Amino acid sequence: MKNASFLNEIKNSIDRNKLPEHIAIIMDGNGRWAAKKGLPRTAGHKKGMDTVDMIVTASRNLGIKVLTLYAFSTENWRRPEKEVNFLMRLLKTYLIIQRRKMMKNKIKFNVLGRIQELPVFVRKEIEKTKNLTSENTALTLNIALNYGGRVEIVDAVRRLFKDILTAKKDLNYETLINSIDEETISNYLYTAGFPDPDLLIRTSGELRISNFLLWQIAYSEIFITETLWPDFSETDFYMAVLDYQKRERRYGGVKNL
Ligand code: IPE
Ligand code: IPE
Ligand code: MG
Repeated sequence: MKNASFLNEIKNSIDRNKLPEHIAIIMDGNGRWAAKKGLPRTAGHKKGMDTVDMIVTASRNLGIKVLTLYAFSTENWRRPEKEVNFLMRLLKTYLIIQRRKMMKNKIKFNVLGRIQELPVFVRKEIEKTKNLTSENTALTLNIALNYGGRVEIVDAVRRLFKDILTAKKDLNYETLINSIDEETISNYLYTAGFPDPDLLIRTSGELRISNFLLWQIAYSEIFITETLWPDFSETDFYMAVLDYQKRERRYGGVKNL
């Protein structure tokens, strides 16, 4: 009971007028959580899915507009095949189970990453979930899958190049190239149309970005906790939001007096 009242106290002290619009999370520490318990790494991933479920619901109910979760990086293919296969199957199961809840909670599902390189059985569920939830408006849930910040920039440059090369011949290349600005680049990234993350959370204490949203986090507030992802609680999540609300965002300017 004490815990429940603490949770409510924390939740109620959040200023609803100063919410981060977009929260991005590097969900890390599943393997260490399992190792601590003498379990295989896969047990950590399975438990981590419960945290995902809880954080998605908490974000939606709090009024967050965009939640981006880093689930599988372009570098994670380096892991043992058994672990990679387990993660792919887990994702499929997550989507099948969560679809109904996404509809009930008006959550729009989206993916960021090189989806074409994922196994067909995952792509199928992604497409199905995206199509089903496309009209939902409460929270957009972006799952970063086979995602790499550098590869995202490579993909953006390739598409931009193609567009320039196929542009109308009467357009001057020089003018076209000089018209490229920060907004152009943003619009060619997987995150086109989404605001940049206001708050970036990383669990398990590593002090690095691990190739996540390199362009988009230029001015994100960063919150790193030692807590491992499977142990990350609703209270921890609200604490991160409260911490964010205490920050002064200056964007290179000076303090507002
Ligand atoms: C994060 O947990 C999940 C994925 C990267 C898929 P890890 O699997 O990286 O867990 P640790 O960092 O080894 O503890
Ligand atoms: C980052 O975690 C990727 C995801 C959370 C999906 P990693 O565990 O792969 O990152 P490193 O290896 O510690 O940098
Ligand atoms: Mg890790």
